[in-house]
Amino acid sequence: MTRTILILPGDGIGPEIVAEAAKVLECLRQEQGLDVTLEYGRLGGSAVDELGAPYPEPTRQQARRADAILLGAVGGPKWDALERPLRPESGLLAMRGELGLFANLRPVQHYPSLSAASALKPELVAGLDLLIVRELNGDVYFGQPRGIRTLANGEREGFNTMAYRESEVERIAHVAFKAARLRHRKLCSVDKANALETSELWREVVTQVAQDYPDVALSHLYVDNAAMQLIRAPKQFDVIVTGNLFGDILSDCAAMLTGSIGLLPSASLAANGKGLYEPIHGSAPDLAGQGVANPLAAILSAALLLRHTLNTPDQAERIERAVGRVLDKGLRTMDIMAPGMIPVGTQAMGDAVAAALED
Ligand code: IPM
Ligand code: MG
Repeated sequence: MTRTILILPGDGIGPEIVAEAAKVLECLRQEQGLDVTLEYGRLGGSAVDELGAPYPEPTRQQARRADAILLGAVGGPKWDALERPLRPESGLLAMRGELGLFANLRPVQHYPSLSAASALKPELVAGLDLLIVRELNGDVYFGQPRGIRTLANGEREGFNTMAYRESEVERIAHVAFKAARLRHRKLCSVDKANALETSELWREVVTQVAQDYPDVALSHLYVDNAAMQLIRAPKQFDVIVTGNLFGDILSDCAAMLTGSIGLLPSASLAANGKGLYEPIHGSAPDLAGQGVANPLAAILSAALLLRHTLNTPDQAERIERAVGRVLDKGLRTMDIMAPGMIPVGTQAMGDAVAAALED
């Protein structure tokens, strides 16, 4: 059965990097018989400009129908002054919420040929392979009430609600324990239970769920300590499970261990297997249109799509191996450039990965 992949290029560097991921998918379609149809739609600022909303109705319908969605990035200064519901990021959050994409997987892998690109000493990151499981449908991102109100004394106050229901913690904990079972059977749950009730409940529920997984070693860290440990000794981690806000912050932090945020893909999965796949980086408006952005996070997001929604792990690995080979050959976009390496732009990097698929 032909599966439909909805491609949402988005804003900033989104269209450039997604074009390279689409190139790789197209290559697999033509040469390896991957049975997919690529369809295009609008999300974020470009959707606001053309259709008046960041997650317009036509995109909603496409997203509901598609088997999987591949997104570039959304946002940019052009739309920052709009009221919140019209901001590009609101479109992305609405899509994550409406499609029930609660499980965000952010694998962080170190490529041997990129040791020099990491901000940390090579011995701290060599062989690093960790997975951040970020809850994506709850927390302060979605909690009500929220807003900016004027107090009796005339001063304004911004407020958000941090909230997690037991069922929300349970389902993400199950995803994380199952992921740990497929890896090194170590799970670290990150919270702020020393200060927040939300985290107190989180820790209690994760500890309860652990009873179903006696073969997985569970530990807990406060988020401030977890941030420090990620920089001090990142290889102590196998799988990290955490809430929406802490996961957002820790995954950017973890990205830099690999050398560049331009390398990290993500999968956001719903209970029914539908997935949204996107780089964890943003739209980098300052780089847009120059053909210099690193397309590897987008290309690796396509690999996650093949693994998690299309259930074609062989094709996913084909892409991942191709990326490794291209890096081994010394090709580097600006963000991971090092002395003696071969500088390439966005398209040349995409072409090289596509060519390396056949090897
Ligand atoms: C991410 C991004 C988003 C988030 C933004 C664009 C709303 O930072 O996917 O990590 O905070 O979730
Ligand atoms: Mg983020």
